[in-house]
Amino acid sequence: MKAAALSALENEMMVMGESVFKFEEEFAQYCGTKHAVSTGSGTAALSITLQALSIGHGNEVITTPFSFIATANSIVHAGAEPIFADVEDSEMNLSPSKTRAKIGSKTRALMPVHLYGHPSRIDEFHDMAAESGLSLIEDACQAHGAEFKGRKVGSIGDAGCFSFYPAKNMTVGGDGGMITTNNEELADAARSIRDCGRDKNNKYYHGRIGFTSRLNTVNAAIGRIQLKRLEAWNEARRWISERYRRELEGVRDVVLPPQEASFEKAVYHLFVIRTNLRDRVKKRLADDGIETGIHYPRPIHLQTPYRQKYGYAEGAFPLSESLANEVLSLPMYPTLAEDEVVRVCEALKKFLVA
Ligand SMILES: Cc1ncc(COP(=O)(O)O)c(C=O)c1O
Repeated sequence: MKAAALSALENEMMVMGESVFKFEEEFAQYCGTKHAVSTGSGTAALSITLQALSIGHGNEVITTPFSFIATANSIVHAGAEPIFADVEDSEMNLSPSKTRAKIGSKTRALMPVHLYGHPSRIDEFHDMAAESGLSLIEDACQAHGAEFKGRKVGSIGDAGCFSFYPAKNMTVGGDGGMITTNNEELADAARSIRDCGRDKNNKYYHGRIGFTSRLNTVNAAIGRIQLKRLEAWNEARRWISERYRRELEGVRDVVLPPQEASFEKAVYHLFVIRTNLRDRVKKRLADDGIETGIHYPRPIHLQTPYRQKYGYAEGAFPLSESLANEVLSLPMYPTLAEDEVVRVCEALKKFLVA
């Protein structure tokens, strides 16, 4: 990564250098799409996709309240209204049936999230979108490389959006994002919007109100190296998750993450258990020197700007609200060693079984 970054710095333009286009080409090839358009972040990828589809003021986009806040923010940034539907209890992902119930005359798009790297029921959303004439945007910001029925996520909807924030399954050594799509018109519009709304071949002619949201060349050069490692890292995450499952199967008060179906491949961006004793377990593990996370302690509709703007209160999405009180992310990264996994599980069991 260091050598690639240095070479890009010495030999290429700092923005829109050769590495950016190579990274886009390689990422598209990896996902199995015709196009990939890099952006400054995952949030920008989502918002630019909406804008490239002319979704904005007066339009509604249905998504989950149980995600990182950026999912919904991207809809607001585009000028549209986020409409929430609750999750499917057993999966933690957006519920297709609850989504269908929210489709109305202003709905323009569905935005399911492949939360924690577990594919959402994307074929049901695909059919729903097709039947109702809606766009389908996959928030794949946590799911680089996950698969559904043999296809990579991000290649099934009208577009997929990825984040390269350093905690993700792959990064670019800083912030960055990517839009994947088979739709050439959408890709061209997104390329223009991320680059100040520029016309394709006329630098100072602008057909759109765009943003400065390009991926820097040095970051793209780092991303190209990371992409080569992604499959091996994902396999390591999957192995670690299996090891966790073996250790924690049947432990009282622990609900393990949903098992993948035979036609799914999850990439375990996070390994998230559920327990009613979450806060106590978290503290006990911290006392044992084990850091855990909570993704996420407050669902989006109960975050201050959403309460203020839309008047949401507790009880609006009960399943998401109970998840927020129960989820606990155990240590998960590709180089986590087997004895470390065992140590985490021993500490958990010591507390829960005692
Ligand atoms: C599900 C989800 N959506 C959107 C984003 C936004 O990505 P970024 O932080 O790159 O803007 C993230 C990650 O941060 C995410 O986890």
